[in-house]
Amino acid sequence: MAFIEAENVYKLYPAKRSLIGKPKTFIHAVDGVSLTIDKGSVVGLVGESGSGKSTLGRLLVAMEKPTKGRITVDGVNLARLKGRKLSETRKKLQIVFQNPDASLNPRMRIGEILSEALRVAGEEPSRDRVDELLASVGLQPGVAEQYPHQLSGGMKQRVAIARALAAKPEFIVLDEPTSALDVSVQAQILNLLLDLQEKYNLTYLFISHNLAVVHYISDITAVMYLGEIVEQGPAHILYKNPWHPYTKALISSMPLLYRVKAGITTEKVELKGEPPSPINPPKGCKLHPRCPYATEKCRREKPPEIRIGKNHTVKCWLYAKK
Ligand SMILES: Nc1ncnc2c1ncn2[C@@H]1O[C@H](COP(=O)(O)OP(=O)(O)O)[C@@H](O)[C@H]1O
Ligand SMILES: [Mg+2]
Repeated sequence: MAFIEAENVYKLYPAKRSLIGKPKTFIHAVDGVSLTIDKGSVVGLVGESGSGKSTLGRLLVAMEKPTKGRITVDGVNLARLKGRKLSETRKKLQIVFQNPDASLNPRMRIGEILSEALRVAGEEPSRDRVDELLASVGLQPGVAEQYPHQLSGGMKQRVAIARALAAKPEFIVLDEPTSALDVSVQAQILNLLLDLQEKYNLTYLFISHNLAVVHYISDITAVMYLGEIVEQGPAHILYKNPWHPYTKALISSMPLLYRVKAGITTEKVELKGEPPSPINPPKGCKLHPRCPYATEKCRREKPPEIRIGKNHTVKCWLYAKK
């Protein structure tokens, strides 16, 4: 059952702010994304910095509105919601960011931070509920008395997760939740997230530029390049048998030891140069200036999304029926 559905979603930001008149150039942060997230599943979103992952995450939790396209939550079009209905739906949709230092108020004790989150969610805060939230993320009740700066990075991220849980969400966007943490702490937080997902039947969009982390945590993996999802499919299939040249390039550049252990034997694909600017992205397939397989058609026309298996699609001319 689909819980979140994005249909041909775009988000453009003005590239230059002019004081008078309309901006002429736009950053195509999200550029025609369609994505279905089933209830109780984990979709992993990978892609280089600047590919539009965070923007897509903010759109899916209704923090921002798409420029074009439709987002439905549990069958309800977000654009149709206003006032109380919108705020009720927003509670079901939470987001956890990479850096807890930026998201936790340094002047508030942890207990106050969680009490405030409960209040925002429409619940009268109590010591018991705060303790319960702390316990759910593996923290002792005493943490309620402490300030963020007294906690380690991992503990702060646990508090940020507890705060998201205060609203009893159904869907959580985890935007690089472990990227700022030490490797050993990363694994603990990933396992905590998986435990919580099972316990509360949560649905996740897990954003990371770390391919190994996404391989570990996701049921479905989606690969983003310059605002587009170029390939998506079941994680165990996509990592072993990637189709898109960009996915192949990412996966074949994972550490050899990792690939051997995971049984990844995909051919090496080397891309030329660096990702271009999302302000004036290349015409046709956006990867064509870097892709070793690019043909004349790739330079001219946008590739369609081609279905290659159950829940597995790829946007690439190599696989279009002639
Ligand atoms: N609020 C914003 N205003 C203007 N440009 C933005 C804004 N948010 C993101 N962008 C731009 O959109 C593109 C995608 O950014 P982002 O979604 O943060 O990518 P990622 O999370 O994959 O690194 C980048 O070029 C970024 O500079
Ligand atoms: Mg980001």
